[in-house]
Amino acid sequence: MQIITDLLNWRKNTSLPSLGFVPTMGNLHQGHISLVERAQQDNEQVAVSIYVNPTQFNQTQDFTHYPRTLEEDQDKLHAVGVDYLLLPTYEQIYPDNFHYKVICDTEISQILEGEKRPGHFTGMLTVVLKLLQLTKAQRAYFGEKDFQQLQLIKGMVKAFFLDCEIIGCPTLREISGLAMSSRNNRLTAEQRQLADDFAKILHSGKPLTAIGEELRQKNIKVDYLTEYQGRIFVAVYIGEIRLIDNFFIK
Ligand code: PAJ
Repeated sequence: MQIITDLLNWRKNTSLPSLGFVPTMGNLHQGHISLVERAQQDNEQVAVSIYVNPTQFNQTQDFTHYPRTLEEDQDKLHAVGVDYLLLPTYEQIYPDNFHYKVICDTEISQILEGEKRPGHFTGMLTVVLKLLQLTKAQRAYFGEKDFQQLQLIKGMVKAFFLDCEIIGCPTLREISGLAMSSRNNRLTAEQRQLADDFAKILHSGKPLTAIGEELRQKNIKVDYLTEYQGRIFVAVYIGEIRLIDNFFIK
């Protein structure tokens, strides 16, 4: 596995094999690895980026406490046979110091995460645009776990005629049904139990009002719990840690 820190000069003039790209913020878990494995099926080579993008965090606390585990991440990527690990810096990604931004004003960008985390999608879309431009990947892989993110990236690629196919991949879950997430690693053992309870209640098949009531009885703070376009979307706080999930209702 080659580690690339100079993204500006990487893939500039060479004749390029087909590249699948998996952007991440690190602290990798099986959910990330499932995207890598899907990318390996479709492409000659696979690149993974690890970059904790400051512009998409609407709370400094969340950015500073975001788990950074580069060594373990590197081992995991090496073990699955990733070709390139991209480790860009702020200076490389933001030579403009984030004065140029991708703004989306569709409904899906303004509800749920868009409403609760002002600026988040702008920072996210901007870094994804930059990474797609730098990697020149034929395909890029994103999880349905962040469903709004996936939809917005698909919309951006269409809007700006980007030459990259966006592929959505299913959410990987723990046995309890809890969606795998880097933020789960910040939970104490007790909070993790509560997060598993949250997942069991959420996937119980009960009506939303009953689910909301049961979560409140457990003292789980619900940020939103709603149905939108045939999916349930939810965000809760387990202590200080905010967890999101969504799933299709049959
Ligand atoms: P991050 O949260 O590290 O997620 C990287 C990718 O992994 C995203 O596409 C996300 O949807 C996917 N993912 C996370 N948990 C998953 C799970 N349980 N099952 C399947 N896929 C999962 O999302 C980001 O980083 C950033 O916003 C990024 C796109 C890298 C831009 O900074």
